[in-house]
Amino acid sequence: MSVTLAFDVYGTLIDTHGVVYKLQKVAGDKAQAFSQTWRDKQLEYSFRRGLMKNYQNFAVCTSHALDYTCRYYKITLIKEQKMELLDSYRALPAFDDVVDSLARLKAAGFRLYAFSNGSADTVETLLSAAGIRDFFLGIVSVDDLKSFKPDPAVYSHFIKKSEASISDTWLISSNPFDVIGAISAGMRAAWVQRSKEAIFDPWGVEPTLTIASLRELPEKIG
Ligand code: 2OP
Repeated sequence: MSVTLAFDVYGTLIDTHGVVYKLQKVAGDKAQAFSQTWRDKQLEYSFRRGLMKNYQNFAVCTSHALDYTCRYYKITLIKEQKMELLDSYRALPAFDDVVDSLARLKAAGFRLYAFSNGSADTVETLLSAAGIRDFFLGIVSVDDLKSFKPDPAVYSHFIKKSEASISDTWLISSNPFDVIGAISAGMRAAWVQRSKEAIFDPWGVEPTLTIASLRELPEKIG
């Protein structure tokens, strides 16, 4: 059976900080820090909703996290400004190693899927806007289960939906919590260390593979 690759979306294929240039209008020289707080809170809200079993989709977590971040930085947005920022979150850019790496992996016969906290329609729009939707056989969203990564159930759901065998499946993610979640659920996982400063959680669970760029994947995983 050919090997299945489950690509995490936000932070791995798609650059969540692609919104920084828009944030400069409202947050000035704090735009980068604003973007990081927004992303950190978005994930925290998904973890908390998962634990509380109080599911609202990832777009709601993103919107509430934006409200929090505005309060934190004492920035007031008018409705149109908020809508503009949330709209840009639906059309973020892909990292520059994505297109050629996906093309090589697809040509080499890997089964490529997108696997995300985002709802399927949001991810469809996002990948299409970034010009990479056609590389994937499908999109698997945690929204089907009304839960979030790293709930073990969402990784099992991925295996089921993609009709993959767990022993032939890798998660590819820049998010350490996602890599640890996948390995705990029995998958192999590659950590994409997107910056030298990124730290892998010291839990005693190591990524099966660590790469600095998706361009290393075809050789290292083949
Ligand atoms: C994703 O699931 C975790 O944000 C990341 O796309």
